[in-house]
Amino acid sequence: MVYKIVMARNSREADGRKVWICPARDVFMDKQKLITLPYDVKLALRKRVFVPDEKTFSFINTAIELINRHKKGIGVIADVGTGSGVIAIYIAKKFPDKKVYAFDISIRALQLARYNVSLNRITNIVFFKNKDKKWLNSPNSKKIDMIVANPPYVGDLEYFSKRFLKEYPDAKYQPATAIRSYDRYGLRSYIGIFNAARKHGVKYILFRCNTESVDKINLILSKVKDVKLRKMKSRISQNSFLFVEIIY
Ligand SMILES: C[S@@+](CC[C@H](N)C(=O)[O-])C[C@H]1O[C@@H](n2cnc3c(N)ncnc32)[C@H](O)[C@@H]1O
Repeated sequence: MVYKIVMARNSREADGRKVWICPARDVFMDKQKLITLPYDVKLALRKRVFVPDEKTFSFINTAIELINRHKKGIGVIADVGTGSGVIAIYIAKKFPDKKVYAFDISIRALQLARYNVSLNRITNIVFFKNKDKKWLNSPNSKKIDMIVANPPYVGDLEYFSKRFLKEYPDAKYQPATAIRSYDRYGLRSYIGIFNAARKHGVKYILFRCNTESVDKINLILSKVKDVKLRKMKSRISQNSFLFVEIIY
């Protein structure tokens, strides 16, 4: 593990320092917010762009661990659905010799992510604007070795269920276009990214999944020939991560 995030009420602790993280509703009230995260990463947040939560940091830890483990085979990492840019920024900062491509469909998110990159003086991230149903819209997509993605994850069945907002009250402050996958079971984004990855010869994918859909995604992908899957449970939450190795 590269750094440790210990859960505490409304705060996170990394390397002995308390770091304030605001919940999505604070951004909803404030329009814009600047927060400081572990390792002096500064992050501006704004309305209508996904606000990172504690699972994001567990996901970043896992991504860094996996990149370290497969270091030699990974030169270019793509953060698909970058939002505020938080995942791309941590990875780019941790691995300054690697290139990070950050994709999003939302201009508002890309503006914010670019701003966050300049706040943190990061120089190894390149941004790309995606189009609907396209996940790797870059002339250099053939060079991507690993995808990390926390794509829209909530299917309609869950999104419109009564228990959804009871279980995830902050979700009502997140933009629907950032969390809704616009299909029944929340599978569309994962399958789209997986197909794009195969088309472009990407070796590894790390997905942050919804607990509701992780087993379905696992099952669908494991039926594809030449794909190795490793399911990982996040340590601090119920959310599950899926690591996919594609053998061509
Ligand atoms: C759940 S948010 C994750 C944001 C960020 N990665 C994080 O973890 O904090 C999903 C993001 O995917 C973006 N998105 C939706 N469709 C997309 C597409 N076709 N290509 C790229 N990004 C897309 C949304 O705009 C949103 O910013």
